Amino acid sequence: MGKDKIKIVAFGASSSSTSINRRFALYAASRLGGNTDLITPDLNDYEMPIFSVDREKKDGYPSRAHEFIRLLAESDGIILSMAEHNGSYTTAFKNLMDWCSRIESKFFADKPMLLLSTSPGGRAAGFVMEAAKTRFPLHGANIVATFSLPQFSQNFDEQNGITDPQLNEGFLSGIKNLQNALDITL
Ligand SMILES: Cc1cc2nc3c(=O)[nH]c(=O)nc-3n(C[C@H](O)[C@H](O)[C@H](O)COP(=O)(O)O)c2cc1C
Repeated sequence: MGKDKIKIVAFGASSSSTSINRRFALYAASRLGGNTDLITPDLNDYEMPIFSVDREKKDGYPSRAHEFIRLLAESDGIILSMAEHNGSYTTAFKNLMDWCSRIESKFFADKPMLLLSTSPGGRAAGFVMEAAKTRFPLHGANIVATFSLPQFSQNFDEQNGITDPQLNEGFLSGIKNLQNALDITL
């Protein structure tokens, strides 16, 4: 028997209102199956002043950072899709990460994570994926699978999901790893 009501936090590491990474993370969550409670934070709701050590000393930590940490801590699993800006994290994500990491270094709280990335181009946000893959475990991420989808608009549509069979196979294998880690039986 699988667990009942598995809490999944799924989000894109982007503040764009049309974020393809948010769409991709939410699509992945829809493929998990099982009895899931889906929480889909929007990074715009976690906008905070730009992190600085001086601000930290003077004002302490924004309540939004505490809330985000709590959200992750209360989840059973995380689906996070990384957007790439200039070869790295988006400013919105990096700022959130900087604040959270100062409150709780292991803010990903050892939850099983499916780490995704996508971009309009052929590199599939590969630079930020590499950075996240090596960095996130230091912040308590338990990465059970990674998958990068190149050329989002050519390879994805809302009805059929990932249209390239080979890419879809890689994606579904990532979904399977997360299902196994969460003990989701279909
Ligand atoms: C400031 C800026 C820098 C970007 N730099 C990169 C980049 O280095 N690599 C890349 O693949 N795409 C880059 N892009 C294109 C993004 O991949 C594209 O905007 C994508 O939609 C971002 O993901 P999102 O829709 O989830 O926000 C950049 C876009 C912006 C606005």
